[in-house]
Amino acid sequence: SEPLKVALLGCGVVGTQVARILLEHRDELAARVGAPLELAGIAVRDVTVPRDAVIPTQLLTTDAESLVDDVDIVIEVMGGIEPARTLILRGIAAGASVITANKALLAQDGPAIFEAADAAGVDVAFEAAVAGAIPIIRPIRDSLAGDKINRVLGIVNGTTNYVLDQMTKHGLGFEQAVKDAQALGYAEADPTADVEGHDAAAKAAILASLAFHTRVSLDQVACEGITKVTADDVAWAKRSGHVIKLLAICEQNDEGVGVRVHPALVPDTHPLATVSDAFNAVFVEAANAGPLMFYGQGAGGAPTASAVMGDVVSSARNRVAGARGAGESNYANLPVVDFGTA
Ligand code: HSE
Repeated sequence: SEPLKVALLGCGVVGTQVARILLEHRDELAARVGAPLELAGIAVRDVTVPRDAVIPTQLLTTDAESLVDDVDIVIEVMGGIEPARTLILRGIAAGASVITANKALLAQDGPAIFEAADAAGVDVAFEAAVAGAIPIIRPIRDSLAGDKINRVLGIVNGTTNYVLDQMTKHGLGFEQAVKDAQALGYAEADPTADVEGHDAAAKAAILASLAFHTRVSLDQVACEGITKVTADDVAWAKRSGHVIKLLAICEQNDEGVGVRVHPALVPDTHPLATVSDAFNAVFVEAANAGPLMFYGQGAGGAPTASAVMGDVVSSARNRVAGARGAGESNYANLPVVDFGTA
């Protein structure tokens, strides 16, 4: 088939790895898709910033608008609400399929984006938005679509898991552990979103919406981060056979759906207790499947780019086949109730 033109929006830790995979694995990707994927341009704020040698500088542009108007696939890995939102909607209106890793945007404006995609008949895919490399969106949305999910417990922020793990294992101070997580490319541009739990809350809203076939927005997620967790708390938890983890808890009962993020005491014997470094894990309890656990690297360039590229390949295959993936608009509207943070 004809080449599919791809626009990359953002060239940070994740964008660089997406570009590398697109260029280094061009032939295998073309074979898997049934058409070559042609990287048409990389939109950045400043073309003069020094970049990894894998980035072809002639592809860099500050004109993201023109780029998204003329491609088949838009990959958004710039993060933040604007200009990501406007560019995604513009790409959809121009008929492009959209792949995004932007959990904050989806948690805030998901419905508007999915409605625009339905109207335009294009895919919007976002496996990379939750838990980095871990396939969790498709399992919850597709593989478990015939089951009833009762609860989702997730360690969905790599930075805070890294910080808590360093405090637990090495008695490292909070500030130093955050700095290390930033240097390793795990943290958000502003790590406040990580340590205050906002990043995990956005992911929890996305997971709960999919798991319970409803729409949970960010402001419906009760949220407490890890800034108040002390070395004493960590040591006390350890002595009592527990480990402190920042959990995203999504539950459904007869009253409705509740979603919250807060530091929690996890017994040493629970599989979530073994999740160390910047790894993530999502523990799902379904009526018929029983317990399931998804585990892997939840942050960082190459792991997140892996999830992005999976969506690129499946959306590209859909375009080649003239088909569309699962839409997001078939929701019941379950009430979202306050289950508290206790
Ligand atoms: N800052 C996020 C984390 C990156 O630490 O998990 C992945 O969304």
